[in-house]
Amino acid sequence: MKIPDFKEAKKRTKEEIKILKNEYNIPDDMKDYGKNKKYFVKTYGCQMNEHDSEVISAILEDMKFTKTDYYEDADLIILNTCAIRENAHNKTFGMLGRIKHLKQEKTNLMVGLAGCMSQEESVVNEIIDKYKWMDFVFGTHNIHKLPEILKEHTKSKKLEVNVWSNEGNVIEGLPSKRDSKYKAWVNIMYGCDKFCTYCIVPYTRGKQRSRMPEDIIDEVKNLVKDGYKEVTLLGQNVNAYGKDFKEKDYKMENLLEDVAKTGIDRVRFVTSHPWDFTDKMIDVIAKYDNICNYIHLPVQSGSSKILKLMGRRYSKESYLELYKKIRNKLGSDASITTDIIVGFPGEDEKDFEETLSLAEECKFDSAFTFIYSPREGTPAAKMVDNVSKEEKEKRLYRLNDVINKYAKEANDKYVGKTVKVLVESVSEKDNSMLAGYTDTMKLVNVKADKKYIGQIINVKIEDAKTWSLDGTIDE
Ligand code: 5AD
Ligand code: SF4
Repeated sequence: MKIPDFKEAKKRTKEEIKILKNEYNIPDDMKDYGKNKKYFVKTYGCQMNEHDSEVISAILEDMKFTKTDYYEDADLIILNTCAIRENAHNKTFGMLGRIKHLKQEKTNLMVGLAGCMSQEESVVNEIIDKYKWMDFVFGTHNIHKLPEILKEHTKSKKLEVNVWSNEGNVIEGLPSKRDSKYKAWVNIMYGCDKFCTYCIVPYTRGKQRSRMPEDIIDEVKNLVKDGYKEVTLLGQNVNAYGKDFKEKDYKMENLLEDVAKTGIDRVRFVTSHPWDFTDKMIDVIAKYDNICNYIHLPVQSGSSKILKLMGRRYSKESYLELYKKIRNKLGSDASITTDIIVGFPGEDEKDFEETLSLAEECKFDSAFTFIYSPREGTPAAKMVDNVSKEEKEKRLYRLNDVINKYAKEANDKYVGKTVKVLVESVSEKDNSMLAGYTDTMKLVNVKADKKYIGQIINVKIEDAKTWSLDGTIDE
């Protein structure tokens, strides 16, 4: 058994990061392990996790499992979990409750836990204590070891816990069963060294490790060959890409430029920390048409006092300065979105009003807003939290009012314009329409023939809602 340890996870060693290309192997006796068996992977959390689930699925398919969309039909269930807030935890444990009933009827069913919750000591101890009926637990650093973990479990027939606290290296050569044929996630780095005081990610995802530029470019070139139209470069803090290279001077602006030069129609990147956003990056984004005019720039709070307590390393003023620089360079058509936490320990009415005033000033295209959720093991969890639950809920409500007002205003500006949309699927709200996104990340429902799915088309926008636009194809 290998149980996670937060003290270990917090360590940042000076050891050089190795790029390992031959770590993923399926033992011979596991090659047909999934024959005639179905798997179901449930994903919680961020895009990083979505992409990890694509890798987990591909590994299972390499062992000949077939996919099912219904967990009730599965022979193997993996929950790929998120640890960022309490409610992500609760959802997972709720799902485990339902699965337990299923397992009582279907004794051969295998159930595993993966992702960020698996990296948490307290979660794994709870699983060992109260969820002995589960089959295996693995973490974010050893996804490539899934075949071996299943093999061990088959031998021992006991709950197999195999979680690495130290991240180790960059594993190349992993397969991926991509959910979309048109847009793809591409990891450019793993982990995070920022240690914002509220955030669990530096513990669950380990130290920052950038992939080699040539491996990333090769992946993108292959995606272009396979007909992909869009890539999203993924990392917890993509602007710090390359800062961990010891010998190379190659940063995010260089990578963005090289990815743009592959000729892929659209390049996106998430998530940006304002701290590492350089002028050179802004110049590259402005220079290349295929780098989307969409920046997700989490601010977290508008109060410099709270930002300091959060360990964000910028003030309200310096965020606004960066925001204006980006706006001036990319123009008013660019879309800028953010993340905001309300009710951080010590946030008083005046601090919260600073956040409201920042939202009024920036007029974000949209924002993800959250109530602060203490995460065990992080510095903020030890701070005195003097804001009541009711007050936090009221602040969230007041903030959302402002965010929604500007989201609608931003969308209204599109009415009458013709924009390019990558059509992805039939619309969820109306199956006579198709749905896709603009390069500025606006969801568009469009009247057009299904043959356009997978293509970038011109759409004339006729109506704007707070969270979507409606339009017709402009041929
Ligand atoms: N409580 C509430 N929200 C959080 N986030 C990260 N950690 C917490 C927490 N402990 C939010 C931040 C981050 C987004 C992904 O989740 O806004 O940008
Ligand atoms: Fe959740 Fe963060 Fe893990 Fe993503 S990296 S799954 S947001 S805890």
